[in-house]
Amino acid sequence: MKRGLFITAEGTDGSGKTTQIKLLESYLKDRGFEVVVTREPGGTKIGEKIRSIILDPDNTKMTYITEMMLYVSARAQLVGELIRPSLEQGKVVICDRFVDSSYVYQGFGRNINIELIEKVNSIALDGIMPDVTLFFDVDPNIALSRRIRSTGADRIEQETMDFHRKVYEGYKKLVSKYPNRIKIIDSNRSIEEIFLDVKENIDKILERCL
Ligand code: TMP
Repeated sequence: MKRGLFITAEGTDGSGKTTQIKLLESYLKDRGFEVVVTREPGGTKIGEKIRSIILDPDNTKMTYITEMMLYVSARAQLVGELIRPSLEQGKVVICDRFVDSSYVYQGFGRNINIELIEKVNSIALDGIMPDVTLFFDVDPNIALSRRIRSTGADRIEQETMDFHRKVYEGYKKLVSKYPNRIKIIDSNRSIEEIFLDVKENIDKILERCL
């Protein structure tokens, strides 16, 4: 591959995307690709520091604009330090969340104007967008309770169910806006069944790229 492949995973908290990313990573490595797995917010030393500020349950006074700018800052660092160089080296980059999370969490969840979110993010993205985005579709009620049972709740997960439902509806709208890029993965199934679907989608993209 000349330019690498950029895959992102999206979904409400607890949708199971992280498990699927691990399976996809080993599948692609077995097929001989150089794979870089990263996450947002985070993925770099600076980004992980920003992540801990964002998710700290003590930071109850954080304004929505501060929060948006922190996500954008972590993203700018990740794109510049890791994603762009990896793609230029022909690697496959899999990122657990990316700019779509800002559209749905900050746009639909926090009601920040979408054009404003697009504008500030365009600085961080600097022309980089995913080739394909997998949306792990599961009802937020089920997903969130699963997540909180296993790891406890961070500052965002402590939000009301109304917030998480708005985020979920936001994802649905995004999927209909970008049907070619965003693939829906029905995640109300077993890990194995979900992964078959993931694999099928990625195999199709690889056929086009190779
Ligand atoms: P994670 O739990 O999937 O690692 O994501 C951290 C939280 O940050 C999750 O609740 C989603 C949220 N988030 C945003 O609100 N905006 C963003 O741009 C990103 C990347 C994540």
